[in-house]
Amino acid sequence: MRIETFEMERMQSTWENIVDYDMSESGVRPLTLRELRGMGFDLDALLDEPLGYSQSNGTIPLRERIAAIYPGATIDHIEVTNGTSEANYLLALGQLRAGDAVAMQVPNYMQMWGVARSLGADVKTFRLRTEAGWEPDWEQFDRAVTPRTRLVYLSNPNNPTGSVLSAAAMRRIVDRCEQTGSWILSDEVYLGAEVTGTRTKSFWGMSDRVIVTSGLSKAYGMPGVRIGWLVGPVSVVADCWSQHDYITIGPNNLSDRIARVAVDAGNRESCYARTREILRRNLPIVREWVESFGGRLTWTEPIAGAIGLMKYAADSPSLAIAERVRLNQSTLIVPGVHVGIEGHLRIWLGGREEFLREGLRRIGTELRALFN
Ligand SMILES: Cc1ncc(COP(=O)(O)O)c(C=O)c1O
Repeated sequence: MRIETFEMERMQSTWENIVDYDMSESGVRPLTLRELRGMGFDLDALLDEPLGYSQSNGTIPLRERIAAIYPGATIDHIEVTNGTSEANYLLALGQLRAGDAVAMQVPNYMQMWGVARSLGADVKTFRLRTEAGWEPDWEQFDRAVTPRTRLVYLSNPNNPTGSVLSAAAMRRIVDRCEQTGSWILSDEVYLGAEVTGTRTKSFWGMSDRVIVTSGLSKAYGMPGVRIGWLVGPVSVVADCWSQHDYITIGPNNLSDRIARVAVDAGNRESCYARTREILRRNLPIVREWVESFGGRLTWTEPIAGAIGLMKYAADSPSLAIAERVRLNQSTLIVPGVHVGIEGHLRIWLGGREEFLREGLRRIGTELRALFN
């Protein structure tokens, strides 16, 4: 199978550990095992854990805890995966065939764009409208979602806008997908990372056409644990498990143990509160920085997630700006073109205060030179 380069991930994996300031992230500064121990994680017991295979679709205790998050779900509705990205991939492998149509929201995390196309699907997009508070462009949506559409992919809360769909927009998406017989894949990995604490409503339970993916990487602040999951109808989950057997067999045993502690209801809330606290401290710093450009850099503040999507007033392509910032300032940012929105830059706001301030200062130096 041939697959096109996942431009954003490749740029990140090439440079994120080389530059001085990685401002390309999208989750909050990660938690440590020590912090997790404070939440009741038995670090000592981990030392005695045999380094064997884990249950390949997730241990029963972990799946029970994940199922408890999604009303009506049982352990048979859950597949535990190596990150949310593997959950998305397994779903695509299980459901998509050459010639299928797929619709996806843009801007977005562009994984499904590449995966679906590599499987021979015809991918159409519908845009979130900058000028309409990131409401979907319904004309494009209705054109993109037809009876040929096997799958509709969206991220909610959305990467990179940090926006959340309204209840009315969610209803409209579900109604349309029920008419067309399409699956809705709602990637909810940022759910719980809301700045105000008003929890994003999950698509789960709105229709039997809904599949949800999520994981520990963003709202929980534990990307390195590499645990994600998929929640869906039992037959869809069974198809994912079949794919899983061939790819990675299953998630790592130690990570499964860590995840059991993280997703426990009380700890989950503690992780979300930690994320919220980081965002609340950092947002005013970024807001002030954006304002210092006197209108040449503008944004709609994120409702959720540690990502600032900024529009710049210059003709340069976003990739050229990101390269300039990397080369001159040893600082990595995501060019809008890598998340489906040219003319924008995606800047991380989930780091420690001094890191954030210095990262912004470096990016600002290049932007000011560009604007002058
Ligand atoms: C919407 C979305 N889904 C999935 C992922 C990948 O998540 P994971 O680290 O859980 O594989 C990302 C990472 O940026 C993302 O933004």
